[in-house]
Amino acid sequence: MPSLLFVCLGNTCRSPLAEGALCAEAARRGLDLTVDSAGTGDWHAGEAPDRRAQATARRHGVDVSGLRARQVSPDDFRRFDHVIALDHENLANLRALAPADATAQLSLLLDWVPGRAGQAVADPWFGDEAGFETAWADVSAAARAIADRLAD
Ligand code: 4NP
Repeated sequence: MPSLLFVCLGNTCRSPLAEGALCAEAARRGLDLTVDSAGTGDWHAGEAPDRRAQATARRHGVDVSGLRARQVSPDDFRRFDHVIALDHENLANLRALAPADATAQLSLLLDWVPGRAGQAVADPWFGDEAGFETAWADVSAAARAIADRLAD
């Protein structure tokens, strides 16, 4: 079973949305995947996703309220097939954190979406509701593309 870990900065906005979007997409298609998310930082460890992220997911029929933030660990690079960063800073931090015996493939989330390679999912933390809708659109496009790729 393919396993994927989404990583952003706080694990409270973008990566829980990516986790929720891919779990929902996999359930719709009957795909068996292991999906998780984490943050490069630990400020929000143990907390549920940001209320604005929860509300955005709920508007799209997805419940992320049961998720709890955690910090990425060296073992994640051995446990997951794919460790997927939401933006370039997260990807650079993951490269620096990866242990020598890492087996996971590192990528940027939007690299999975045809025509969007190299793009970042913008951090909505300091913005308004519209930023969360944009993040949702990005992570759900990626969830569809990932499911397409893994179903092949
Ligand atoms: P995320 O957003 O990386 O998408 O979860 C953020 C969450 C928290 C903070 C920054 C970004 N923060 O500064 O606490």
